[in-house]
Amino acid sequence: MIPIARPDLGQEEIDAVADVIRSGIIAQGPRVKELEAAWSQYCGVKHTIAVANGTLGLMAIFDQLGIVAGDEVITVAHTFAATANAILSTGAVPVFVDIEPDTYLINARLIEAAITPRTRAIVPVHLFGLVADMDMIMAIADRHGLAVVEDACQAHGAMYRGRRAGSFGHGAFSLYATKNMTTAEGGFVTTDDDALADRIRLYRNQGMRSRYQFEMLGYNYRMTDLNAAIGLVQLDKLERNTARRQAIAAAYDEGFADLPIRTPAVPDGRTHVYHQYTIEVGPDRDAIIEAIKAGGVGADIYYPIPVHRQSYIQERGLHAELPVTDAAAARTVALPMYPGMTAEDRATVIEVVRRAVLDRAGVGASA
Ligand SMILES: Cc1ncc(COP(=O)(O)O)c(C=O)c1O
Repeated sequence: MIPIARPDLGQEEIDAVADVIRSGIIAQGPRVKELEAAWSQYCGVKHTIAVANGTLGLMAIFDQLGIVAGDEVITVAHTFAATANAILSTGAVPVFVDIEPDTYLINARLIEAAITPRTRAIVPVHLFGLVADMDMIMAIADRHGLAVVEDACQAHGAMYRGRRAGSFGHGAFSLYATKNMTTAEGGFVTTDDDALADRIRLYRNQGMRSRYQFEMLGYNYRMTDLNAAIGLVQLDKLERNTARRQAIAAAYDEGFADLPIRTPAVPDGRTHVYHQYTIEVGPDRDAIIEAIKAGGVGADIYYPIPVHRQSYIQERGLHAELPVTDAAAARTVALPMYPGMTAEDRATVIEVVRRAVLDRAGVGASA
Protein backbone atom coordinates (compact mmCIF):
# COMPACT_ATOMS: atom_id res chain seq x y z
CA MET A 1 0.00 0.00 0.00
CA ILE A 2 1.35 3.45 -0.89
CA PRO A 3 0.81 5.35 2.37
CA ILE A 4 -0.83 8.77 2.49
CA ALA A 5 2.13 10.27 4.38
CA ARG A 6 5.60 9.26 5.51
CA PRO A 7 8.12 11.40 7.42
CA ASP A 8 11.47 12.00 5.69
CA LEU A 9 13.85 10.91 8.47
CA GLY A 10 17.30 9.39 8.09
CA GLN A 11 20.88 9.22 9.26
CA GLU A 12 21.23 12.99 9.67
CA GLU A 13 18.39 13.13 12.18
CA ILE A 14 19.77 10.05 13.98
CA ASP A 15 23.21 11.68 14.22
CA ALA A 16 21.73 14.98 15.42
CA VAL A 17 19.77 13.26 18.20
CA ALA A 18 22.80 11.15 19.18
CA ASP A 19 24.88 14.34 19.48
CA VAL A 20 22.32 15.82 21.87
CA ILE A 21 22.30 12.69 24.00
CA ARG A 22 26.09 12.73 24.15
CA SER A 23 26.04 16.43 25.12
CA GLY A 24 24.13 15.66 28.31
CA ILE A 25 21.66 18.52 27.71
CA ILE A 26 18.52 16.81 26.50
CA ALA A 27 15.70 19.11 27.69
CA GLN A 28 15.25 22.70 26.44
CA GLY A 29 18.72 24.05 25.68
CA PRO A 30 20.95 25.41 22.90
CA ARG A 31 19.35 23.42 20.06
CA VAL A 32 15.93 24.91 20.85
CA LYS A 33 17.43 28.40 20.73
CA GLU A 34 19.17 27.66 17.44
CA LEU A 35 15.98 26.29 15.90
CA GLU A 36 13.98 29.32 17.05
CA ALA A 37 16.48 31.71 15.44
CA ALA A 38 16.57 29.68 12.23
CA TRP A 39 12.77 29.58 12.01
CA SER A 40 12.45 33.33 12.64
CA GLN A 41 14.83 33.99 9.79
CA TYR A 42 13.16 31.52 7.45
CA CYS A 43 9.66 32.70 8.27
CA GLY A 44 10.49 36.42 8.25
CA VAL A 45 9.37 37.16 11.82
CA LYS A 46 11.02 38.80 14.83
CA HIS A 47 10.26 36.04 17.33
CA THR A 48 9.80 32.29 17.35
CA ILE A 49 8.96 30.46 20.57
CA ALA A 50 9.33 26.68 20.28
CA VAL A 51 6.73 24.66 22.19
CA ALA A 52 5.84 21.02 22.77
CA ASN A 53 3.16 20.88 20.04
CA GLY A 54 0.97 23.06 17.83
CA THR A 55 -2.08 22.87 20.09
CA LEU A 56 -0.08 24.36 22.97
CA GLY A 57 1.22 27.03 20.58
CA LEU A 58 -2.35 28.10 19.83
CA MET A 59 -3.31 27.90 23.51
CA ALA A 60 -0.34 30.04 24.55
CA ILE A 61 -1.22 32.74 22.00
CA PHE A 62 -4.90 32.87 22.95
CA ASP A 63 -4.12 32.92 26.66
CA GLN A 64 -1.49 35.63 26.37
CA LEU A 65 -3.66 37.77 24.09
CA GLY A 66 -5.96 37.85 27.10
CA ILE A 67 -8.83 35.98 25.47
CA VAL A 68 -11.21 34.87 28.23
CA ALA A 69 -14.67 33.47 28.93
CA GLY A 70 -17.34 35.59 27.25
CA ASP A 71 -15.14 36.36 24.24
CA GLU A 72 -15.76 35.12 20.71
CA VAL A 73 -13.15 34.01 18.21
CA ILE A 74 -13.99 33.66 14.51
CA THR A 75 -12.65 30.58 12.75
CA VAL A 76 -13.64 27.65 10.52
CA ALA A 77 -15.12 24.22 11.21
CA HIS A 78 -13.28 22.61 8.27
CA THR A 79 -10.11 22.03 10.28
CA PHE A 80 -8.50 19.73 12.80
CA ALA A 81 -10.38 20.06 16.10
CA ALA A 82 -7.30 21.50 17.85
CA THR A 83 -8.08 24.93 16.36
CA ALA A 84 -11.43 25.11 18.13
CA ASN A 85 -10.22 23.25 21.22
CA ALA A 86 -7.47 25.80 21.83
CA ILE A 87 -10.07 28.59 21.65
CA LEU A 88 -12.33 26.71 24.08
CA SER A 89 -9.41 26.23 26.50
CA THR A 90 -9.61 29.94 27.34
CA GLY A 91 -13.34 29.81 28.09
CA ALA A 92 -14.07 31.77 24.89
CA VAL A 93 -16.17 30.26 22.12
CA PRO A 94 -15.38 29.62 18.47
CA VAL A 95 -17.75 31.28 15.99
CA PHE A 96 -17.62 29.28 12.79
CA VAL A 97 -17.84 30.84 9.35
CA ASP A 98 -18.00 28.91 6.09
CA ILE A 99 -15.15 28.21 3.69
CA GLU A 100 -14.55 28.97 0.01
CA PRO A 101 -15.55 26.04 -2.22
CA ASP A 102 -12.35 26.06 -4.29
CA THR A 103 -9.61 26.60 -1.67
CA TYR A 104 -11.34 25.07 1.43
CA LEU A 105 -10.11 28.14 3.37
CA ILE A 106 -12.06 30.67 5.44
CA ASN A 107 -14.37 32.74 3.22
CA ALA A 108 -13.16 36.19 4.23
CA ARG A 109 -16.30 37.77 2.74
CA LEU A 110 -18.35 36.15 5.51
CA ILE A 111 -16.22 37.37 8.42
CA GLU A 112 -17.69 40.82 8.99
CA ALA A 113 -21.23 39.49 9.38
CA ALA A 114 -19.95 37.23 12.20
CA ILE A 115 -18.31 40.05 14.20
CA THR A 116 -20.08 41.10 17.42
CA PRO A 117 -19.01 43.36 20.33
CA ARG A 118 -17.57 40.18 21.93
CA THR A 119 -15.30 39.25 19.03
CA ARG A 120 -11.61 39.36 19.95
CA ALA A 121 -9.76 37.54 17.19
CA ILE A 122 -9.92 36.01 13.72
CA VAL A 123 -8.23 32.63 13.26
CA PRO A 124 -7.71 31.68 9.61
CA VAL A 125 -6.47 28.10 9.14
CA HIS A 126 -4.00 27.73 6.27
CA LEU A 127 -5.38 24.27 5.60
CA PHE A 128 -3.49 21.70 3.52
CA GLY A 129 -0.59 24.13 2.92
CA LEU A 130 -2.33 27.14 1.31
CA VAL A 131 -2.48 30.60 2.96
CA ALA A 132 -5.93 32.16 3.42
CA ASP A 133 -6.86 35.56 1.93
CA MET A 134 -4.65 37.55 4.29
CA ASP A 135 -5.12 40.93 2.54
CA MET A 136 -8.83 40.87 3.27
CA ILE A 137 -8.47 39.28 6.72
CA MET A 138 -5.87 41.79 7.92
CA ALA A 139 -7.97 44.69 6.58
CA ILE A 140 -11.06 43.46 8.45
CA ALA A 141 -9.04 42.91 11.64
CA ASP A 142 -7.59 46.44 11.41
CA ARG A 143 -11.02 47.96 10.87
CA HIS A 144 -12.46 46.22 13.93
CA GLY A 145 -9.43 46.18 16.21
CA LEU A 146 -9.16 42.39 16.27
CA ALA A 147 -6.13 40.14 16.69
CA VAL A 148 -5.27 37.72 13.89
CA VAL A 149 -3.95 34.29 14.89
CA GLU A 150 -2.89 32.18 11.94
CA ASP A 151 -3.29 28.45 12.40
CA ALA A 152 -0.30 27.66 10.17
CA CYS A 153 0.05 24.13 11.55
CA GLN A 154 -0.11 22.72 8.00
CA ALA A 155 1.59 25.55 6.10
CA HIS A 156 5.35 25.56 6.73
CA GLY A 157 6.90 27.95 4.23
CA ALA A 158 3.70 28.66 2.27
CA MET A 159 3.77 32.14 0.69
CA TYR A 160 1.17 34.85 0.17
CA ARG A 161 2.30 37.82 -1.92
CA GLY A 162 5.93 37.29 -0.94
CA ARG A 163 5.34 36.69 2.77
CA ARG A 164 5.36 33.43 4.65
CA ALA A 165 2.46 31.85 6.52
CA GLY A 166 2.69 32.86 10.17
CA SER A 167 4.18 36.30 9.47
CA PHE A 168 0.94 38.30 9.10
CA GLY A 169 -0.63 38.04 12.56
CA HIS A 170 0.62 35.74 15.32
CA GLY A 171 1.29 32.24 13.98
CA ALA A 172 1.12 28.70 15.35
CA PHE A 173 2.84 25.78 13.62
CA SER A 174 2.73 22.05 14.32
CA LEU A 175 5.83 19.87 14.00
CA TYR A 176 3.93 16.59 14.35
CA ALA A 177 5.35 13.48 12.64
CA THR A 178 3.48 13.83 9.35
CA LYS A 179 3.80 17.60 8.93
CA ASN A 180 5.97 19.16 6.16
CA MET A 181 8.74 19.39 8.74
CA THR A 182 8.74 17.49 12.00
CA THR A 183 10.33 17.20 15.41
CA ALA A 184 8.18 14.08 16.19
CA GLU A 185 5.96 16.30 18.36
CA GLY A 186 6.56 20.02 18.55
CA GLY A 187 5.38 23.46 17.55
CA PHE A 188 6.30 27.09 16.98
CA VAL A 189 4.69 30.36 17.90
CA THR A 190 5.69 33.24 15.61
CA THR A 191 5.10 36.93 16.23
CA ASP A 192 6.55 40.38 15.64
CA ASP A 193 5.10 41.61 18.95
CA ASP A 194 7.99 41.93 21.47
CA ALA A 195 5.77 42.03 24.56
CA LEU A 196 3.65 39.05 23.48
CA ALA A 197 6.79 37.03 22.66
CA ASP A 198 8.23 37.80 26.08
CA ARG A 199 5.03 36.72 27.84
CA ILE A 200 4.74 33.50 25.83
CA ARG A 201 8.38 32.64 26.62
CA LEU A 202 7.61 33.02 30.31
CA TYR A 203 4.28 31.22 30.02
CA ARG A 204 6.09 28.26 28.37
CA ASN A 205 8.29 27.88 31.45
CA GLN A 206 5.99 28.21 34.48
CA GLY A 207 6.12 32.01 34.28
CA MET A 208 9.71 31.92 35.51
CA ARG A 209 11.87 34.95 34.60
CA SER A 210 14.90 33.76 36.56
CA ARG A 211 15.45 30.71 38.71
CA TYR A 212 12.42 30.21 41.01
CA GLN A 213 11.18 33.75 40.42
CA PHE A 214 7.69 33.25 39.08
CA GLU A 215 6.59 36.47 37.47
CA MET A 216 3.25 35.22 36.15
CA LEU A 217 1.13 32.10 35.90
CA GLY A 218 2.64 29.70 33.40
CA TYR A 219 3.02 26.01 32.65
CA ASN A 220 5.45 23.61 31.03
CA TYR A 221 5.01 23.96 27.24
CA ARG A 222 8.71 23.45 26.47
CA MET A 223 10.28 21.67 23.49
CA THR A 224 13.31 19.45 24.16
CA ASP A 225 16.73 19.69 22.52
CA LEU A 226 16.21 16.14 21.22
CA ASN A 227 13.23 17.38 19.25
CA ALA A 228 14.92 20.62 18.20
CA ALA A 229 17.94 18.69 16.84
CA ILE A 230 15.59 16.81 14.52
CA GLY A 231 13.91 20.10 13.61
CA LEU A 232 17.19 21.73 12.54
CA VAL A 233 17.86 18.92 10.07
CA GLN A 234 14.26 19.03 8.88
CA LEU A 235 14.41 22.79 8.33
CA ASP A 236 17.53 22.33 6.18
CA LYS A 237 15.51 19.90 4.03
CA LEU A 238 12.28 21.91 3.98
CA GLU A 239 12.75 23.80 0.70
CA ARG A 240 13.86 20.66 -1.13
CA ASN A 241 10.97 18.67 0.32
CA THR A 242 8.47 21.41 -0.50
CA ALA A 243 9.70 21.35 -4.12
CA ARG A 244 9.19 17.58 -4.15
CA ARG A 245 5.63 17.98 -2.85
CA GLN A 246 4.96 20.61 -5.52
CA ALA A 247 6.32 18.30 -8.23
CA ILE A 248 4.02 15.49 -7.07
CA ALA A 249 1.08 17.92 -7.08
CA ALA A 250 1.96 19.07 -10.62
CA ALA A 251 2.03 15.45 -11.79
CA TYR A 252 -1.35 14.78 -10.13
CA ASP A 253 -2.84 17.96 -11.63
CA GLU A 254 -1.77 16.83 -15.08
CA GLY A 255 -2.79 13.22 -14.56
CA PHE A 256 -6.28 14.22 -13.43
CA ALA A 257 -6.84 17.17 -15.79
CA ASP A 258 -9.56 15.47 -17.85
CA LEU A 259 -11.39 13.86 -14.90
CA PRO A 260 -14.73 15.17 -13.58
CA ILE A 261 -13.14 16.14 -10.24
CA ARG A 262 -11.84 19.33 -8.62
CA THR A 263 -8.08 19.47 -8.03
CA PRO A 264 -6.54 21.94 -5.51
CA ALA A 265 -6.92 25.61 -6.47
CA VAL A 266 -3.96 27.96 -6.08
CA PRO A 267 -5.08 31.62 -6.32
CA ASP A 268 -2.66 34.13 -7.87
CA GLY A 269 0.07 35.38 -5.56
CA ARG A 270 0.16 32.26 -3.37
CA THR A 271 2.39 29.19 -3.28
CA HIS A 272 0.87 25.95 -2.06
CA VAL A 273 3.16 23.68 0.00
CA TYR A 274 0.80 20.68 -0.31
CA HIS A 275 0.71 19.32 3.18
CA GLN A 276 -2.26 17.49 1.67
CA TYR A 277 -3.35 17.05 -1.93
CA THR A 278 -7.13 16.92 -1.67
CA ILE A 279 -9.52 16.33 -4.55
CA GLU A 280 -13.28 16.77 -4.63
CA VAL A 281 -14.88 13.76 -6.27
CA GLY A 282 -18.59 14.27 -5.65
CA PRO A 283 -21.29 12.22 -3.92
CA ASP A 284 -19.71 8.83 -4.71
CA ARG A 285 -16.73 9.73 -2.54
CA ASP A 286 -16.90 6.76 -0.16
CA ALA A 287 -17.09 4.21 -2.97
CA ILE A 288 -14.22 5.95 -4.78
CA ILE A 289 -12.09 5.76 -1.62
CA GLU A 290 -12.79 2.04 -1.34
CA ALA A 291 -11.74 1.55 -4.97
CA ILE A 292 -8.55 3.59 -4.45
CA LYS A 293 -7.62 1.57 -1.38
CA ALA A 294 -8.42 -1.69 -3.20
CA GLY A 295 -5.86 -0.56 -5.79
CA GLY A 296 -3.15 -0.39 -3.10
CA VAL A 297 -3.18 3.37 -2.67
CA GLY A 298 -3.76 5.14 0.64
CA ALA A 299 -6.60 7.66 0.77
CA ASP A 300 -8.10 9.53 3.68
CA ILE A 301 -10.66 12.19 4.53
CA TYR A 302 -9.62 15.50 6.09
CA TYR A 303 -12.02 15.98 7.79
CA PRO A 304 -15.02 13.62 7.66
CA ILE A 305 -17.01 15.29 10.47
CA PRO A 306 -16.55 19.06 10.58
CA VAL A 307 -15.93 20.57 14.00
CA HIS A 308 -19.37 22.23 14.25
CA ARG A 309 -21.00 18.78 13.91
CA GLN A 310 -18.96 17.14 16.70
CA SER A 311 -21.06 16.25 19.74
CA TYR A 312 -18.97 18.20 22.28
CA ILE A 313 -19.37 21.36 20.19
CA GLN A 314 -23.11 20.86 19.75
CA GLU A 315 -23.51 20.22 23.49
CA ARG A 316 -22.10 23.71 24.00
CA GLY A 317 -24.83 25.15 21.79
CA LEU A 318 -22.37 26.29 19.12
CA HIS A 319 -24.61 25.80 16.11
CA ALA A 320 -23.66 26.99 12.66
CA GLU A 321 -25.04 26.61 9.13
CA LEU A 322 -22.03 25.82 6.96
CA PRO A 323 -23.14 24.26 3.66
CA VAL A 324 -19.77 24.55 1.91
CA THR A 325 -18.01 22.98 4.90
CA ASP A 326 -20.53 20.13 4.94
CA ALA A 327 -20.06 19.57 1.21
CA ALA A 328 -16.25 19.46 1.58
CA ALA A 329 -16.57 16.91 4.39
CA ALA A 330 -18.81 14.73 2.23
CA ARG A 331 -17.09 14.99 -1.14
CA THR A 332 -13.32 15.24 -0.71
CA VAL A 333 -10.48 12.75 -0.45
CA ALA A 334 -6.77 13.28 0.23
CA LEU A 335 -4.17 11.31 -1.75
CA PRO A 336 -0.62 10.18 -0.89
CA MET A 337 1.73 13.16 -0.55
CA TYR A 338 5.22 12.93 0.93
CA PRO A 339 8.69 13.87 -0.32
CA GLY A 340 9.98 10.29 -0.51
CA MET A 341 7.38 9.19 -3.09
CA THR A 342 8.99 7.62 -6.15
CA ALA A 343 8.00 8.34 -9.76
CA GLU A 344 6.57 4.83 -9.84
CA ASP A 345 4.43 5.49 -6.71
CA ARG A 346 3.19 8.68 -8.31
CA ALA A 347 2.25 6.91 -11.56
CA THR A 348 0.45 4.18 -9.59
CA VAL A 349 -1.59 6.76 -7.63
CA ILE A 350 -2.60 8.52 -10.86
CA GLU A 351 -3.59 5.29 -12.56
CA VAL A 352 -5.56 3.93 -9.59
CA VAL A 353 -7.38 7.22 -8.95
CA ARG A 354 -8.24 7.64 -12.63
CA ARG A 355 -9.75 4.16 -12.77
CA ALA A 356 -11.68 4.64 -9.50
CA VAL A 357 -13.15 7.96 -10.66
CA LEU A 358 -13.90 6.95 -14.24
CA ASP A 359 -15.54 3.68 -13.17
CA ARG A 360 -17.86 5.64 -10.86
CA ALA A 361 -18.53 8.25 -13.51
CA GLY A 362 -19.86 5.42 -15.67
CA VAL A 363 -17.27 6.05 -18.37
CA GLY A 364 -15.58 2.70 -17.94
CA ALA A 365 -12.11 1.72 -16.89
CA SER A 366 -9.27 3.83 -18.14
CA ALA A 367 -5.68 4.42 -17.25
C1 LIG B 1 -4.90 22.74 11.40
C2 LIG B 1 -4.23 22.22 12.64
N1 LIG B 1 -4.33 22.90 13.78
C3 LIG B 1 -3.74 22.48 14.91
C4 LIG B 1 -3.02 21.30 14.95
C5 LIG B 1 -2.43 20.86 16.25
O1 LIG B 1 -1.09 20.59 16.19
P1 LIG B 1 -0.43 19.46 17.14
O2 LIG B 1 -0.94 18.14 16.67
O3 LIG B 1 1.03 19.64 16.94
O4 LIG B 1 -0.86 19.77 18.54
C6 LIG B 1 -2.87 20.56 13.77
C7 LIG B 1 -2.07 19.33 13.69
O5 LIG B 1 -2.20 18.30 14.11
C8 LIG B 1 -3.51 21.01 12.59
O6 LIG B 1 -3.43 20.30 11.46
